[in-house]
Formats: sequence, structure tokens, C-alpha cells
Amino acid sequence: MKIVSIKRIFLSLSFLISCLTFAQNKSERELILIDKDWRFSFGHLYDTEKDFGHATGYFSYLTKTGFGDGPAAKDFDDRAWRKLDLPHDWAVEQEFSEKASFSHGFKTAGKGFPEKSIGWYRKKINIPESDNGKIISLKFDGVFRNSKVFFNGYFLGTEESGYNGFEYDVTAYVNYGGENTIVVRADASMEEGWFYEGAGIYRHVYLKKTNPVHVLTNGTYVTSELKNNDAEITAKVTIENKGKFVGYIEIFQTIFDSEGKEVSFFLQDVDAPEFYKTANYSSKFAVKNPLLWDIDTPNLYRLVTQIRKDGKTIDSYETSFGIRTIEFNAENGFFLNGKPLKLKGTNNHQDHAGIGTALPDEIQYYRIKKLKEMGSNAYRCSHHPPTPELLKACDELGMLVIDETRLMGINDYHLNDLKRMIERDRNHPSIFCWSVGNEEWNIEGNIVGERVTNVMQNFAKSIDSTRPVTVGISSGFKSGISSVVEIMGYNYLGNGDIDAHRNQFKNQPGMGTEEGSTFATRGIYFTDDAKHYQNAYDRKPRPTFYSIEEGWKFYAERPYLAGMFIWTGFDYRGEPTPYGWPSVTSYFGMMDVCGFPKDNVFYLKSWWGKEPVLHIMPHWNWSGMEGAAIDVWVHSNCDEVELYLNKKSLGKKKMQQNSHLEWKVNYAPGTLEAIGYKNGKKILTEIQKTTGKGENIKLSLDKENVLKGNVAVVTVELTDKNGLHVPTTNDEITFSIKGGKILGVGNGDPTSLENDQFIDDIVLSPIINFMEQKGVTATLPQQLSNYPETEWNTAFKDRDYKKQAPSYIYKGEFELKNNSASNSVSFFYKKIGVETVVFINGNKVNPSSEDPQKYVLDSAILKQGKNTIHIATTPLQKIKDWDVMNTDPGIIQIITPAEPWKRKLFNGYAQIIIQKDENAKEVILSASAKGLKAVELKN
Ligand code: GAL
Repeated sequence: MKIVSIKRIFLSLSFLISCLTFAQNKSERELILIDKDWRFSFGHLYDTEKDFGHATGYFSYLTKTGFGDGPAAKDFDDRAWRKLDLPHDWAVEQEFSEKASFSHGFKTAGKGFPEKSIGWYRKKINIPESDNGKIISLKFDGVFRNSKVFFNGYFLGTEESGYNGFEYDVTAYVNYGGENTIVVRADASMEEGWFYEGAGIYRHVYLKKTNPVHVLTNGTYVTSELKNNDAEITAKVTIENKGKFVGYIEIFQTIFDSEGKEVSFFLQDVDAPEFYKTANYSSKFAVKNPLLWDIDTPNLYRLVTQIRKDGKTIDSYETSFGIRTIEFNAENGFFLNGKPLKLKGTNNHQDHAGIGTALPDEIQYYRIKKLKEMGSNAYRCSHHPPTPELLKACDELGMLVIDETRLMGINDYHLNDLKRMIERDRNHPSIFCWSVGNEEWNIEGNIVGERVTNVMQNFAKSIDSTRPVTVGISSGFKSGISSVVEIMGYNYLGNGDIDAHRNQFKNQPGMGTEEGSTFATRGIYFTDDAKHYQNAYDRKPRPTFYSIEEGWKFYAERPYLAGMFIWTGFDYRGEPTPYGWPSVTSYFGMMDVCGFPKDNVFYLKSWWGKEPVLHIMPHWNWSGMEGAAIDVWVHSNCDEVELYLNKKSLGKKKMQQNSHLEWKVNYAPGTLEAIGYKNGKKILTEIQKTTGKGENIKLSLDKENVLKGNVAVVTVELTDKNGLHVPTTNDEITFSIKGGKILGVGNGDPTSLENDQFIDDIVLSPIINFMEQKGVTATLPQQLSNYPETEWNTAFKDRDYKKQAPSYIYKGEFELKNNSASNSVSFFYKKIGVETVVFINGNKVNPSSEDPQKYVLDSAILKQGKNTIHIATTPLQKIKDWDVMNTDPGIIQIITPAEPWKRKLFNGYAQIIIQKDENAKEVILSASAKGLKAVELKN
């Protein structure tokens, strides 16, 4: 590549020039979210018939280009399939079963459930004629997993990873000015992790259009160096040329601050890359007095890279970035922007109550905000690359991130995943460290681990040299990975002698990549193994492991340790240690799967956060336990706390740093009150009051999310007659909604086997035993006659298309499990004739007004078990000898409407996630329960 000339003009003239350019040109780039209106159906892992005959043709999609068959074919009839919007996780929709996977939360999908392992998705899109000449691609942020994608029947590729994003160029296959079909077959039969992973297209999908000369996806890399008060920004950009253009292009790059003010720009003339080649270009900018990104003031900048040809902007690509410095020091831990910062982190998987892994963007913000409220400043994506939106939320809210790849190894499978993760994520200021592995027991203590780490570490550095690399290590902390990894990741104090390791490797910085693994059930204060309840007092989870307090004290006392990451911030599906079935979620979280705090949150808030904290545990509703000694703990960062029961002092106690206070209190109903003192002054009061019984349903909306988008989290609880939250209620609440839809319900109970979602059940019943008789005239019967039984022959068998009868009568059967009047039963007819008359159980039926090939069947003419269908038609004629004629009469669709949405409260709380319809003025959520007054929440 030859750079023809470089014009560097900083700041002064820049505003004027770029205003002009923006006004003049609109780039050809479009990134269109295509999450809406997909069709979905289960296929089958082994039974090709149940997999709609996919890949059974003489020539398969791997044999001949464009030979995608079954649902992969462009014109496959998917009218009877379920309609849905992405993101979608089919695993969370399923029931629980003891036979299902422990690690994946006992949902009856994936491994062991071949009929719930394969998900087919189809979507139609129009691409206008005016797009001819552009590069058209499909961009997937992640599909779980092993997806095959087809476009108009053309096979585009297979992507094994359930976590990495991928893109396919479909330009050559587009039907310009018409309809195009996208098909995805996801195969979730294999697990990648040992935790709940969901199933299906659970991340966003986009249609991308660009000029043939364009910035490659993830093709920018912005780094900064701070010199005195100024930043020197280097922006590398990779441009691809998928066209025949040969000549010069201009790369015009502008940096804007968060208010949209331009702060610097750079212009260069370069040779465009050659046909189907990419080329890298680099530019430097000066930003005076930059506003640094940090956890309290997460300032962001935006780099806009424009490509211009003959004075016209042909591409425009935006990159969000932040200016900040990071440093690990083996003596003094971690530094952000030159200031020491103890990492107060949590590990998290990506699922949430009610919705599994299909998180709307708003829920990413909700979760990161909850962690920040707890005082946490760091997040480890355990153990896989996260969604782009999670990282966006971390950038915007000020949360540091360890970004982790899935599997260790040195082959393309591993290194390509690592490369894609780093290239996708390296502009996020929140990411301060790459993790190339976790607890790889087979290799972590040996020479293989050492070799693999060396390769992965150096490979990571070759893509991004600005961040260090870590691995979470669980055994011994002595040899193998531990001896070569740049930042030692200690997984649990209990797994080895951290101080001894540090004394041996004095130049190796370290952090606790996992600590805790404590067990607690929200709102439970007495362990009950029969009920699978773990009390919420902070304690050792097992003899060799440590409580959160013990863990934090250890890390807080050692400046050489950069900080620790608790296992975990939120409970997640799967790994219900120390129990098994019927517990389905973990017990490790500081918060439950909904984000309702367990009491440890207040310990962390006290010592991780900045605000004064005073929290009393447990609640004070112990009817029947009068006189019994109850452990009362206070989490606080006050100097001293005095506890009162019904106004009588139980003593004042001094708080030790990073500790908590304990009293034994004989239960009497009333008010438990704590008063917190700082420097001898009363600063806080907190009470736990015995409440009356739950009388009113209370719904409260998470305001923050409502303002940001269409999805909101609603907290459901009961209050007593005085409006006090009742912490012991477990009533079942029923919900309905207008102006929106409910996405999921949860309550944080690890043993709850209630539905997460209530969606209509769709069953497709095939037409079997399909037979035919010849008609004598072309006039079709309007009622059935008595066709002689002996005259029926297998339909279409040995049909001589040159000598067809003037009409045919066909007969087939289909099964109905029941004939409930609330079911909707439809026959989706596929043309097997020109004129058609359809009879069900002898009754003539008419096509529906919306679709002339759909027949809505009334329950009055249907019956449970075997039903008969007759179709009288005049035959379709072959135009060319080789025309392949349809012989499939269609399918019967049975929709059983879902029960009303409902969920039990668990120890006083449930959560419901709602989504407002785009055009709705307001959304009204109604909640009711037996014996209680119904309430409405309007927004
Ligand atoms: C760790 C592991 C985590 C999780 C945790 C449960 O060893 O890294 O992914 O399984 O144990 O205690």
C-alpha cells in the first residue's frame, strides 16, 4: 500500500470542514436490526423426517451450490411455524426434568433431548433493486450453537461457537427488488460450558449494506497515550475492497466527544486495497485535555471513519472508545489512570430470570447497574465472550471487565475464537484484561498448560498489546500455567497458598479471579436441607473454602493483589451446588437470578461502596418462635452500631474494618432497630418490623430502564395494611398485560419449577395415509360421495403427468390429541391442484380471508384422535418434463393457548419483565391473587 499524501490538520479548521462533509454526503453503510418476525420450529437431531427432510436430497447443500433442502430451501412453506422476535432462547421455554442437565438448570432442551436440540429459524426480507452493487451481509452477534446459515437456499457456513459473532456476505445470492429468505439451523445438542447456555438465536441479527470499499467489521483499533494533559490517539483501520475499484480513496477520521463536539480530525489519501484484499491504515490525533474514562465518570469518545471516493462519502463507520490508562503492578496492584484501584469484582454468566440468555439490551443495563449499586467496579465474563451490549453497558456505566474466551488450545478453533473476541472488543475502555482460560484441570499444572498459555498469551498480545492476559487457576498455584501467565488469576484461597506463590513469582501481578462460591437463598435464615434452603448468613461454604468476608479481608489486606472477583454477582441457572434436583439455579450469587439482593450485598455495599450503610438481618416475622434466640447480624460501615428490640437497647458494638456485627436476640414481635454512629454522631437508623399479613399487591417499575427503552423490570410484592413489605409471602400472582407483552417471570427461588414463560403451544400434525382416486369430470364435488374403499391408491404413486385424470379426490388422516374448543386448528394447504375443495370429517370447509390456502377448522367438525381430510382438485400440469411437482398436501397446525402468566412470590418478591409494544401509548400490567385486590400498573 502506498500512501499518496497525508494531510494533517488539527482542530482549527476542522469544525467547518466536517460540517460541510456531513451535510454533503450520506454514506452507503446501513446496519439494519432484523430481530423482528422470524418463524421458528423445532427440527430433530437424528430423525431426518422430523427435521423436515433436511439434507436428504440426492444432491445436498454440500454437493451443489444452492441445494439447501427442507426448511433450508428458499420456498419452504413455513406458514404454520411459530412467529417470534429475537432474541430468543428456546431452552428457557421448556419444562424442567430430573433427566435434564444439572449444569444447565434441568431444562428439557439440548443434550439428551433430540426433539428439543435443533431449532430452525426462517425470515423473509426484501432487498430493493437500488442495493444492487452494494455488499450485502448478514451479521449475527451469536447463536447457540453450531449454526448453519442459508440464504435463498445457498449454504453460507457453519459457526460452532455459541458465543462469538459472525458475518456472511450474501451479495452474490440476493434477489434484488424482491423477497429473500434467511434460514438458520441451530444445534444445541452439545454443551460448551458447565452452566446454563440457552439455545437458539439469543443475540441480535443485522442486515448490513456497504459500498464494496468499506471498513471491515471490527476493523478499527483505537489506542491512546497520555502525555502530560494531552492524549495522542492512534487509530488503525482495516479497509476491504470487494469491488473492482482501483485508485485513490480518502480516509477522513473525526473524533467527537460525548456531547457530539468535534475534537480532532485526520485526513489521508491512500491507494484503495486491491480486489478482495484488505489493507491497514493508521492515523494519529491529538486530543487536548481529554476527559478520561473511569468508573465514576465513564467519559466516552466517538471516532467516525469516513471513506471518500471522488469527493463522495462511500462509507462511514463509528467506533466508541475511551481514553484511560491501566497498569498492573506486582507490588501495588491495579492502577486506573495512574491511581490505585482495588478490583471489587464479580463473575457472571449471562442468563437472567424468566428470559434465560435472551436478554433485551435494557436488562444488560439493569444488571450492571445492580452490580454498581452493590459497590462493585469489575465484572468477569465467565467463561465466554459476552454480548456487545453488555460491554456497551459497562463502558457507559463505568464497570471494568475481564473478557474471557471459551476454550484453551493452540489450534484454529481456539485461536480464531480468541482473535475474534479481541478484535470485536478491543476498543471498549471497560476491558482491562483478557482471560484466555479458566480452571483447565487437565493442563493447568503441567508443561502443556505452560506451552498453551505462552501461545495464547503472545497471540492475544499480537492483536492487542495494551492489555494484559490472565487465566483463572484452581490448583496449586505453583507450576504450569501459574508460572507463565502474565497476571496470575487465583481461583479461591482454599485452592493453594497465594502468599507462597507470590513469594516465588515476585514480578507477577495477581488477582483473585474467583473467590467465595458461598451458598445462600435469598430471604432464608435457617438452612433446611429437605427444602434445599441455604441460610443467607455469610459463612464458609465448605471447610476449605472461605466466606465472602474472609475472602475480602484477605484481598483487602494485601496491596500486591489487585482485587477479587466473587463467584458470583447473580445466581444463574445450573450448578445448584450443594444440592441437585429439584434445585435448578445456583446458590452462589450475591443477588438471586432476578437481581433481588441477598444480605451479603449489604456487606459488600458497606466495604466496597461509598455511601453509609446500615442493614439488619434477618427480617422480624418469626411468629411461633417467640423467645427463641435468633442470630441478628448488622452490615454497616458505621463506626459503632447500637441495636434495640422494642426500644430496649441490646448493646452498642464497635465495627471492625471489613467486618460485620452479631447479636443473639430472643424473638419477640415488634421492632428491631439499629442506630449507626460515625465519629460519635448518629448518622443512620434502620428497622426490621414484624408485619401483618400480606394484603395488597404492590407493583413497582424500574424507572431507569423504562426511560431508556421498551423493556422494563417490574418488582412484585405484598404489603400489609400499613404498607410494610411482607418478607414471608409466597402467594401466587396472576398477570395480564395490555399494550405490550410479558417476556418472562421469576422469583429467585432455586427450587422453583414453575414456568418461566407462558407461550402458546404449537403442534404440527402431518397428514398421513394420503391416498387418491381419479375423478371422471373436471367439476369438483361440493359434497363427498361414497368412494369405493378398494379404489384408493397411494397418492401420486406412479403418476403419469402426461395422462392425468380431469380431477382427483385425495384422502388423508391426521391426529388430534384433544379437541378442546379453546384450541385453534388450521389446515395450511400446499397446492396439489388448481381448483380445490377441502372436506374435514365429511364437512366442506372454506379458505380463510387472510390466506386462500389456509383453512381454519372449527372444533365442531373435529374430534379427538383420528380425523379425515378429503381434498378434491383439478390437477396441476407439468410445463417442462423435469418440473418437480408438489405432492405434499400441507400440514395441520394446532395452537393450544397458554395459561395466564403467573408466578409465586418467593420470600416476598417476584419479578416480571415486560415489553411495551412499539406503537402503544401506554402499557397496563394487571396483577391479581386469590383473596387479594387486583392492581394495575400503568406506564
Ligand atoms: C469454579 C468454576 C466456576 C464454577 C464454580 C462453582 O471452580 O470456575 O465456573 O463452576 O467453581 O463453585
